[in-house]
Amino acid sequence: MNADPEVMKYFPSVLSSDQSDLFAETIQMGLEERDFGLWALQLREGEEDEGPFVGFVGLSAPLWTAAFTPCVEIGWRLHRDHWGMGYATEAATRILDYSFTRLDLGEVVSFASVMNLRSIAVMQRLGMHRDLEEDFAHPLVDASDRLSRHALYRMTKRVWTSSNRTQISPAGA
Ligand SMILES: CC(C)(COP(=O)(O)OP(=O)(O)OC[C@H]1O[C@@H](n2cnc3c(N)ncnc32)[C@H](O)[C@@H]1OP(=O)(O)O)[C@@H](O)C(=O)NCCC(=O)NCCS
Repeated sequence: MNADPEVMKYFPSVLSSDQSDLFAETIQMGLEERDFGLWALQLREGEEDEGPFVGFVGLSAPLWTAAFTPCVEIGWRLHRDHWGMGYATEAATRILDYSFTRLDLGEVVSFASVMNLRSIAVMQRLGMHRDLEEDFAHPLVDASDRLSRHALYRMTKRVWTSSNRTQISPAGA
């Protein structure tokens, strides 16, 4: 997944095998230390959770500073074989519900390069809200880079709870 140029199109580069393994180890350590992180997705086959690895969806807290930080961000990356099935939206729906009911967060944000329309479409399917005035230049990306401009989407506990989004049940649920 991390070596696929199409999957990594809106990141600075693909990852080597070593970089990908290190990333996975870092994610695993984070999950052992906190109640949240980037969870691996696996398809269910029958009653068993033994289907193929799909990708990850989860929560993280950016270490850099922007107008909207500190914050908790929801993000996703799926193997290309599993795009177009609703899996990112399905997992993110469960995770937003967990964020507001179990972690008791007041808000979760998400952001992507303004060119990353597939990722932005997930945010929109989740009912997240974008204020165009909050679009920002990602502080870790060179201002002249095509990936600099990012869209910011927000979901608050109040809106999530009142919209009853937990009832969404995409394919594969
Ligand atoms: C961003 C990313 C996770 C989106 O994946 P995706 O498959 O498009 O998103 P979803 O899993 O929500 O699936 C939605 C698609 O499934 C379809 N779908 C089928 N059944 C569905 C259902 N029950 N519910 C919702 N969508 C469904 C939708 O119509 C949509 O298809 P479309 O792309 O033809 O419009 C994926 O493109 C990706 O991994 N990109 C690379 C990594 C990346 O850029 N991450 C974000 C960085 S900010």
